Amino acid sequence: MSRKKIVAGNWKMNKTPEEAEKLVSELIPMVQGSDVDVVVCTPYTSLWAAANILKGTDIALGAQNMHFADSGAYTGEVSADMLLALGVKYVIIGHSERRQYFGETDDTVNKKILKALEKGLIPIVCCGESLEQRELGVTGELVRQQIKIAFRGVTAEQAKGVVIAYEPIWAIGTGKTATAQQANEVCAIIRGVIGELYGASVAEQIRIQYGGSMNAGNAAELMSQPDIDGGLIGGASLKAEDFTKIVKYRG
Ligand code: PGA
Repeated sequence: MSRKKIVAGNWKMNKTPEEAEKLVSELIPMVQGSDVDVVVCTPYTSLWAAANILKGTDIALGAQNMHFADSGAYTGEVSADMLLALGVKYVIIGHSERRQYFGETDDTVNKKILKALEKGLIPIVCCGESLEQRELGVTGELVRQQIKIAFRGVTAEQAKGVVIAYEPIWAIGTGKTATAQQANEVCAIIRGVIGELYGASVAEQIRIQYGGSMNAGNAAELMSQPDIDGGLIGGASLKAEDFTKIVKYRG
């Protein structure tokens, strides 16, 4: 069974609304006709501006985080309903930068995934090891744990539609990419855990991206690996030409 690839740009804390409008306007004609799902995850403040331009196009809109509560006294937070009202379809959950700087844990990741799914948003669930953890040889165990906790309470029907992003922390924004073989190996472990949790059919259907210094030069090799179904792109998603080359990695 062949899974449709999915390439998502994670803009992180970059681009004002005006700059976001410019970048998505450039991207729309450039990525047209690609055979992958294309997503841009802008900062909250640019979602509205981007949504108005992306309406009716092939590019879907994503957010980079959300809160797990419906509403209430959570200063500075944004709910799933608020994102949905702007036309957001995907939401990145548990990015390593949120785990590292903002106290995100496997437990809050789980709560956010459950809320996103309840509301009809597609979570892009991030997992991955630090350099120290890789050197200690615990990468497999670590991602197994991250995935098992993240998916607690998620049904098989829901799990099929979730996107997982394997992002080795040591490869994010460092220019150090995991080799295609290293990346595929961990993506295969992740698919294996999904198989244990939900059976072979869900494991075959779920899409697993690689993220961490993916760029126009290495995208083709990474994305042609059997267990890699796309990319979560940081730095290279900020330039229309670079991002398009990744989307059109088949040339
Ligand atoms: P990078 O970031 O492509 O700049 O390494 C990827 C990510 O953090 O999602």
